[in-house]
Amino acid sequence: MKNKNIKILAIDTSCDETSVAVLEDRKVLANVLASQTELHKKWGGVVPMVARRAHQENIGKCYLEAMKRARLKIDDIDVVAATYGPGLAIDLEVGLQFAQKFAIENKKPFIPVNHMEGHLLSSLALNSKGHGVSESLDKKQLFPALGLLVSGKHTEIILAKDYGNYQKLGKTLDDAAGEAFDKVGRMLNFGYPGGPIVSEFAKKANHKESFELPVPMRSSGNLDFSFSGLKTACLYKINSLRESGRSDKEWANDFCWEFIECVVLSITEKLGEAINQNPGVKSLLVGGGVFNNETLARRVGRLARKHGLKYLLPEKKYRSDNAVMIDLAAYVHAAGSEVLIGKKAISKVDRVPRLSISD
Ligand code: KG4
Ligand code: ZN
Repeated sequence: MKNKNIKILAIDTSCDETSVAVLEDRKVLANVLASQTELHKKWGGVVPMVARRAHQENIGKCYLEAMKRARLKIDDIDVVAATYGPGLAIDLEVGLQFAQKFAIENKKPFIPVNHMEGHLLSSLALNSKGHGVSESLDKKQLFPALGLLVSGKHTEIILAKDYGNYQKLGKTLDDAAGEAFDKVGRMLNFGYPGGPIVSEFAKKANHKESFELPVPMRSSGNLDFSFSGLKTACLYKINSLRESGRSDKEWANDFCWEFIECVVLSITEKLGEAINQNPGVKSLLVGGGVFNNETLARRVGRLARKHGLKYLLPEKKYRSDNAVMIDLAAYVHAAGSEVLIGKKAISKVDRVPRLSISD
């Protein structure tokens, strides 16, 4: 395969967004996303079977729209990529099978992608004119790197020695940070997903009140996370505030602020330890929907800069799930052994719902 101007079609259906993107190398030519948030709202969370049906309905339309926006024909596509894990099994299947069928029928090479590697590399996206946060970056300036992924299902610190060479240094032992945001949002009757609303409330805090919420895993001596204790402390505190007859309005803004402060402190303290333990690292790659919280994005950035690391924060639209990041993860492997050719090799790939970024 050629190694310049590679046009990659990528698909992600790992959770509740049907996303299809086309990139030329790192340049985004099209990014189409059919969000299902409205569909799942009434259930208070993602229902895998409902998501599957919506993916099946949307995938063909998203593909056509992406090709139209990219102004490309099937012949122009050099490689096809799709997420094969981690994610919801029956949802992953829809995008993966669509991509496999497309690759086999049109005799294109196929690259199966780990969704978390996608999040890790999401800051490598450039716009169609070649501009972006990582515009002037070459591999030598990037690696070794630390990665920090904070999403709905994952909270992970990763040591990246190269593309595809990842070692997990810390992970969540129970709930992910995004899950904790959503659950606290539900306790406060914010609906689904609660995370973004918790962030909005916190912006209106006037810091009149303290709730003594705990910063998780402070003296655990390792780089793992745990947010279920904080979540339970939030539940008890909210119950006692309500039992004392006070309306949510009086304290919810300050409460959301303090909850976020605990999450951010937990993440930045562990990240600080990881940086100290790995003095050679040059950059910090971050990703995941919780980075839409500006406090987290800013404080992690401050820490990275303090230690002289280049901070690679993806643009907002690439922080939550999207297929652009799947394209990017495929692109960095486009010359490697991950590229599968022919029906036999491609059809063998199955979804792996619990796929990890390292062994
Ligand atoms: O990365 P992502 O889109 O999906 C996963 O792969 O999990 O992350 C989704 C998570 C959800 O928990 C959502 O509530 C959270 O990201 N999130 C936010 C914000 N926007 C999305 N959390 C806090 N503040 C936000 N502004
Ligand atoms: Zn994700």
